[in-house]
Amino acid sequence: MTRATLLVPPLVLALAGCGGNQNTLNPAGHPERSITQLFWVMFGVAIVGFGLIMFLLFLGWVRREQPNLPGGRGERTAVQIVLGFGVALPIVLLIALFIWSDFFVMRSTAAPAKGSTALTIKVIGHQWWWEVRYGNSTAVTANEIHIPVGTRVGVVLTTVDVIHSFWVPELNRKVDTIPGTENRLLLIADHPGVYRGQCAEFCGLQHANMAVEVIAEPKPQFDAWLAHNARPAARGNTLFAQNCSGCHEIRGTPARADVGPDLTHFASRRTIAAVTLPNTPQNLREWLRDPQHVKPGNRMPNLELGNADWTALQRYVESLR
Ligand code: CUA
Repeated sequence: MTRATLLVPPLVLALAGCGGNQNTLNPAGHPERSITQLFWVMFGVAIVGFGLIMFLLFLGWVRREQPNLPGGRGERTAVQIVLGFGVALPIVLLIALFIWSDFFVMRSTAAPAKGSTALTIKVIGHQWWWEVRYGNSTAVTANEIHIPVGTRVGVVLTTVDVIHSFWVPELNRKVDTIPGTENRLLLIADHPGVYRGQCAEFCGLQHANMAVEVIAEPKPQFDAWLAHNARPAARGNTLFAQNCSGCHEIRGTPARADVGPDLTHFASRRTIAAVTLPNTPQNLREWLRDPQHVKPGNRMPNLELGNADWTALQRYVESLR
């Protein structure tokens, strides 16, 4: 357990999304760290302000039997001081918080300028999954973004359909994907790990099942992953070509559509259907045979194949390492 997690009262943790690996208050990089600091200071200031108001109300209640207007000079001065503070304090605090958030937090979480990062990744929102493309590489993946640890990564965000919002709470703020527009985001992770993210803009029936994982790994491991994912698949498959090539791409084979995710290295991915299920043989079997049961409303139809064909198709997809 990290120091930050220990400090967080359980109620606040619950409000912030239950801890685990999608915790806004457990930053893993400097942009999110500055957001978290701002949150705790604003939260602390609000608590102190609330306590002060409650204390003054309590004083008023204790003295409720006494005459409304203060009689003595001393009491009048006390009221004037309290009123003065009541006006001055919020003004000073709000200006200080404004300066801090606008000039420091916004700057530290800001998107990198075009071409200023060694690595740029293009992330494209689809109902309901994320397409991920790597600049300077033919690697394409889905719902799984590998990045080298400790490196500033520029993310260019767009969408092919409706507005989505890309949000990995432990790494940085939310950024919307807007049709016809490219938005930018900085991703940086201090330690290796898997950081879960979530579409944060309601985008239809399966908005909740539109998650993403950012996998930060040491540079040599990342380079090996990228080189492997840039390669085409070893072989094609007739069943796949007949039934699936209208929607999916497998590089190096005739399947070249992009309605659904690129599946060239599907078997090496951790999850199925945008982090809806872990990528296990049993889950893959369920998903292939009845995708509408697993994720109702998604674009993948029930193909209604025979048992032998299902098994053969699954075996092929599982060979795509
Ligand atoms: Cu995509 Cu919500």
